[in-house]
Amino acid sequence: MEANIEMKREVEFGAAYRWQHWIRAVSIVGLTITGFYLAMPFVTPAVNAEPTNFMNALFRSWHMILGFVLIGAIIYKTYFFIFEKDNERERLAIKDLINPKVWSQTIGYYLLVSKHPKQSGDYNPLQFMAYFIFYILMVILIITGLILFVHSYHDGLGALLYTPMRSIEVMLGGLAWVRQLHHIATWGVILFVVVHIYMAIFNSVFRKEGAMDAVFSGLKWHKKK
Ligand code: HEM
Repeated sequence: MEANIEMKREVEFGAAYRWQHWIRAVSIVGLTITGFYLAMPFVTPAVNAEPTNFMNALFRSWHMILGFVLIGAIIYKTYFFIFEKDNERERLAIKDLINPKVWSQTIGYYLLVSKHPKQSGDYNPLQFMAYFIFYILMVILIITGLILFVHSYHDGLGALLYTPMRSIEVMLGGLAWVRQLHHIATWGVILFVVVHIYMAIFNSVFRKEGAMDAVFSGLKWHKKK
């Protein structure tokens, strides 16, 4: 254990970044719950003489609302990653991704046999790969989700997207497979979320820089140079 290290608190995440993180987190939790209901309805509405308790429609509406919230947040985050002037450190992580030395040190760090590598950017290569796969899952969920959407909502955006989405549906092998793909990608996201939370706790405990706090307050502790 290193003693007497001087630390200073610096801004790690701006407000917009933290907001989009939590908007995505809340929408993903909501989408997973409502999505599993749509896959296999696990509650039934109170018995009524008239068929007025359209519970499935209610779950589907919330699923679609949260789906569009997620789409908005993902578009914003993609823009932020590529274009934001002050976000150089996220993009610099690509440099470490192609550096075999950083790769081996990172794997060694997680096996508890070596020190954490010096990173050029915000993410180590394993982290970057995990986030990259997460974005692929998001793209799959958004495209398959929009195909399912145009089959349930036919006005406005539903009408506008109908023809292009039907073409993608055919390319993917039909609606039944689109639904399966949407469901399988959901499990991929669940796996990601479990590992993501575990890693956030791991980093907070072992690196002692307040990694978990940073996504709430925006501030992280760094060693003074
Ligand atoms: C993290 C993101 C998402 C998760 C975890 C998720 C999860 C799910 C699950 C598990 C189902 C049921 C699939 C089945 O029948 O087996 C479903 C259905 C559906 N999802 Fe998603 N979804 C996500 C994103 C989206 C997005 C972005 C949209 C687009 C707006 C969307 C629209 C739909 C629609 C329209 C259905 C079909 C509803 C029905 O059967 O009537 N989803 N989703």
